[in-house]
Amino acid sequence: MHIVSLALGGCLKAEPVRYGLTEDTGGHITYILGEMEALSRRKDVSLAEIITRRFDAPQLGSVHHQAEERINPKLVITRIDSGNSAYLAKEALRADREAFTDALIAEFCQRERLPDVIHAHFADAADVAIRVEEELGVPFVYTAHSLGLDKRTAMAVRSQAIEARIAEEDRAIDRACAVIGSSRDECERQLVAYPSARIGKVNRLVPGIDRQQRAASLASATNLIAPFLRDPSKPMVLAIARPVRKKNLSTLIDAFASIPTMRDRCNLVILAGLRENLATGSEEQQQVQRELVERIDRHDLYGCVAYPKSHSRDDVQALYALAARTRGVFVNPALMEPYGLTLVEAAAHGLPVVATKVGGPQDILADLEHGLLVDPRDVSEIGSAVERLVTDRHLWNRCSRNALANSLEMNWERYAAGFTEVAREVLSGPRPQKQHTHLLVSDLDNTLTGCPEGIRRFRRFMERREKIGFVVATGRSIVEARRLVRDWGLPAPLAWITSVGTEVYREEAGELTLDQEFSAFINEDWNPAAVDSLLDGYPDLVAQPSYEQRPYKRSYFVENEECAARIENLLRSENIAARVVFSHGRLLDVLPPYAGKAAAMSYVADHFKVAPSHVFAAGDSGNDADMLTACENAILVGNHAEEVASLATRSNVYRSRRENASGALEGVLAHHRARTLRMRQSAGVPA
Ligand code: GLC
Ligand code: MG
Repeated sequence: MHIVSLALGGCLKAEPVRYGLTEDTGGHITYILGEMEALSRRKDVSLAEIITRRFDAPQLGSVHHQAEERINPKLVITRIDSGNSAYLAKEALRADREAFTDALIAEFCQRERLPDVIHAHFADAADVAIRVEEELGVPFVYTAHSLGLDKRTAMAVRSQAIEARIAEEDRAIDRACAVIGSSRDECERQLVAYPSARIGKVNRLVPGIDRQQRAASLASATNLIAPFLRDPSKPMVLAIARPVRKKNLSTLIDAFASIPTMRDRCNLVILAGLRENLATGSEEQQQVQRELVERIDRHDLYGCVAYPKSHSRDDVQALYALAARTRGVFVNPALMEPYGLTLVEAAAHGLPVVATKVGGPQDILADLEHGLLVDPRDVSEIGSAVERLVTDRHLWNRCSRNALANSLEMNWERYAAGFTEVAREVLSGPRPQKQHTHLLVSDLDNTLTGCPEGIRRFRRFMERREKIGFVVATGRSIVEARRLVRDWGLPAPLAWITSVGTEVYREEAGELTLDQEFSAFINEDWNPAAVDSLLDGYPDLVAQPSYEQRPYKRSYFVENEECAARIENLLRSENIAARVVFSHGRLLDVLPPYAGKAAAMSYVADHFKVAPSHVFAAGDSGNDADMLTACENAILVGNHAEEVASLATRSNVYRSRRENASGALEGVLAHHRARTLRMRQSAGVPA
C-alpha cells in the first residue's frame, strides 16, 4: 500500500522541527511524522509519502525548497511547487490552493503508479484531495486536527472566516471515505455535530507518543530556565502552548500568582512558541506575548517564572523530564482543547497534569488517570488543583505511576495498524451479503476481549463457519465498539448492537447506518426529560462523561448495588417507565423500558430471519443479563462478573470453564453438541 499524507501549512520537515517557528508549525507535524514513520516500518506499506508545499524562505530553513527529502528508504517528504515560492500563512495559502492542486495532479499524472490512499490533514488539504479523487480516483481519509464548529461556540462574535471554515470542514467530512479523530469527544460530539457527518465513517485512532528520550538531558532544560529563576530545583509548574488567546496562558499566571504557597514553593515555566522579540509574529501572537510579560510584571513574579524565547524539540522533552524530576505538574488551561497531545507527552515522562475539562483532555485523563480536570475559566480551581498535586505526595505518586504505565498503550505502531485497517476497509468497498442460518450475539469487553490467542481461535472458527453471523452487543458507543473490533482483530460483524442495546447499526448501501426502526420501537414510553430532572444532581449518582449520554441511554457511576436498587425504586415511585441496568459493581444505565441487549438481539434475529433457537448469546456482566436470560443458547464466560453469577444455574445458560473469547467459543460448541444430541434423541438415533 502506498499512503500519502497531505498537509499544506507550516514548516513541514523531518525532525528536528522548530515548532512554533511560524503560527502554522504546530502539533500536527509531530502527528504526521509519527504516523508516517510507523507506517513506513510496516510490511504492508510500500511507501509512506508526506506531501506538502515547496517554498523558498531561507530564514525558515533551506530544506523547504528541496523537492524531495528522504527520511528512510520507505519514507519521503515530497514538496510540490505551486508556482509561488513564498512561505504562505492561512489566507494566502487559500489563494494558492488551486495552483497547488493543479501542480499536485500534474505530478501524480507523471508517475507510473498512483498512491492507494491519501490522508488529508486539515480541511484545506481535504479540499485538494477532493479534486484529486474527482480527477484521478484516489480515495481519501480526513483528519481535522481541530474543528471550527466548536471554536464558533467559544467565540463572542461570528465571523465570515469561521463560517467559511466550517463549510469547508463539512464538505471534507462529507466527501472523505473515512474520518479519523483522536479523542472520544472529537469523534462522538464535535464531528457528529456537522450536518454531513455519518457516524459509520468516523474512526477513532489514538495517536502515539514519542518515547525515544532523544537526548533528554536534564542539563539542557536547566540551562534554558536557570537564567530566570532564583531556585531552579523547586517543583516546576510547566505549560507548553502556542501564544494564542484560546490557550489561556494568562489565566494560568493569575492562578499561580493567587496562591502564596505556590509562589514560594514552585516555579512557573511557560513555553509559548518561539519569538525573536515581542514585536514579531502575528498580531494575536504579539498581543498574547506582551500580555504574558505584563501579567508577570503585575504580579511581580520575577525569580519564579521562566519564559524562554526559543527552544528545540529536545529541550521540550527535557523540560517534561525535569518537571517530573522536581515533582512538578504540567498544566493545559486552554479554553478549548480538541485533543491535547502535550498531556500524553507529559504522561510519557511520568509527569502529572492539570487540564482543561473542555474538549479532548477529559478522555485522555479517563484513559491515563494521571491528573485533575479543571474549568479553564476558574482561576481558583486551576490554582487549587495545581497546589493539590504538588503538595499531596500520595496523589502525585499515583498520578505519576499511572502516567508511565498507561501511556505505554499509546504508540504509533498501534496507530499505524489501525490506520492500515481503515485504509483497507476504504479500498475494499462494501462486503458481499451472505445468508446466515445462525447468529452469535456477543458482548465485547471481557467476553471476547482479554486474550489475543483466544481471539485468534475465535476468528478462525468464525471464518470456517460462514453460516454463523457475528453480531456485537456492547455497552460501548458505536465508535468505540468499532475501535475495539479493529484493535483486537475480531471478525467483521453483520450488525452492531451498541450503547447497552439502545442503538442498532447495519450496513446499508455499503455504509454503516443507524437502524431507525429499532430507535422508533424503543422510543415508545421513553421520557428522557423526566429521567433527567429526577436524577440530575441526585446524591449517590455521578454522571459518566458527556459522550456516554446518548439519546436512549443515561449513564452514571454508583457506589454499589443497593444504590442501583434505590434508583430503580425511585423511578418506579415517580411512575417513570425505565429500565435500570447495573454492571461491574459500579456502572448504572437508565434505558427506555423496551430497550436493552435482549430486545435488540431479538430485533436483529428477526431482521435477518434467524429463528430464536438458532441464536447464541455470550456475555459476562450486568448489561448482558437480560440477553443471557432471554436467549435459548446463552453462554456465560468463565471470567464473568459477580452480579451475573446466579445466571449459571439456568437451564438455557452454559457456563464456560474458559475465559474471554475461548470461553465464548467453548459455549457455542457446547450448545451445538447438546442440540445435535437432542435432535438425534428425538429422531430415535442412539447417541
Ligand atoms: C459501557 C458504556 C458505559 C456503560 C457500561 C455498562 O462501558 O460505555 O456507559 O455504563 O458499558 O453498561
Ligand atoms: Mg462485558
